[in-house]
Amino acid sequence: MNVAVVGSFNVDHVWRVASLPQPGATLSGEYASGPGGKGFNQAMAARRAGAKTAFVCALGEDLGAQLARALCVGDDIDLRDFACDSSTGTAGIYVDANGRNSIVVAPGANARLDVEFVESALSALAAPSVVLAQLESPPEAIAAALRFGRERGAMTILNPAPANVAVPGSLLALADVLTPNETEFAALLGRHVGERIDADAVSGIDQGRLHALCRDLGHDATVVVTLGASGCFVSHPEANLRGDESACYRIAADAARVADTTGAGDAFNGALAASLALRPDAAFAEHLRFATKYAGLSTEHEGAALAMPHLAVG
Ligand code: RIB
Ligand code: NA
Repeated sequence: MNVAVVGSFNVDHVWRVASLPQPGATLSGEYASGPGGKGFNQAMAARRAGAKTAFVCALGEDLGAQLARALCVGDDIDLRDFACDSSTGTAGIYVDANGRNSIVVAPGANARLDVEFVESALSALAAPSVVLAQLESPPEAIAAALRFGRERGAMTILNPAPANVAVPGSLLALADVLTPNETEFAALLGRHVGERIDADAVSGIDQGRLHALCRDLGHDATVVVTLGASGCFVSHPEANLRGDESACYRIAADAARVADTTGAGDAFNGALAASLALRPDAAFAEHLRFATKYAGLSTEHEGAALAMPHLAVG
């Protein structure tokens, strides 16, 4: 297996509105529903970037679960699902005219993913090169996934999303690569480094200072801060540059015709995992260039999982 993704599946209910609703406002907009969940979006991205991909998640016994199963068959993702008597996860999403979004998630079955299931599901797979997880599932289950990856020599990536979840330091320490966006980075710094910064200011922080903040946060991990349309910033531990020549640098993003940014971070993470798995000898910057390009393209399509482009690594 190239990539094992452990995480959430949601049915996304999406309203396209002119601007995001303010308290007390009633708006009208266009509605669509489709598959999402950070875990599933990342699995789709990894798969459509060309990696043999397994997805470990928890589903209910309902239409959402049937949708997940059908999509995994259609895209040839090796689904290992824990079926439980909760409803499948859902998300309510507003997308404005600029493609920005607000999201509310009801975790449902995702909250039931447990250590035992994750360990048994991962053990049943041919050893993955990369294990990728997020924070829409219980932290113990995510820790089990990353620990499993570490023990079997896989590279572990933790996308610490969403930002409102408190991540234990012990979980951060299980990741070889951490991929927060600006909001998640600010939240992690507040919690783990005691540093208050404004998420909107992150892309303006000078490189030396950003590198120092990443090092305080990541210790042995490579930290990749995704910056939306501004690309990303990477900071390596001095002892492990992962094939790069410098310990920190930025990668710029190409301009995109943005329709919907929902799942862009997921596109980045799935594509990064696929590239790392398929080109183990490439410099880290090469993987980031691919992930940045892949994420940009994902924003040109509406929706989350189904917006992942068919664009193979290489
Ligand atoms: O990252 C985007 C995803 O966040 C959506 O698909 C939604 O389900 C929420 O999990
Ligand atoms: Na999209």
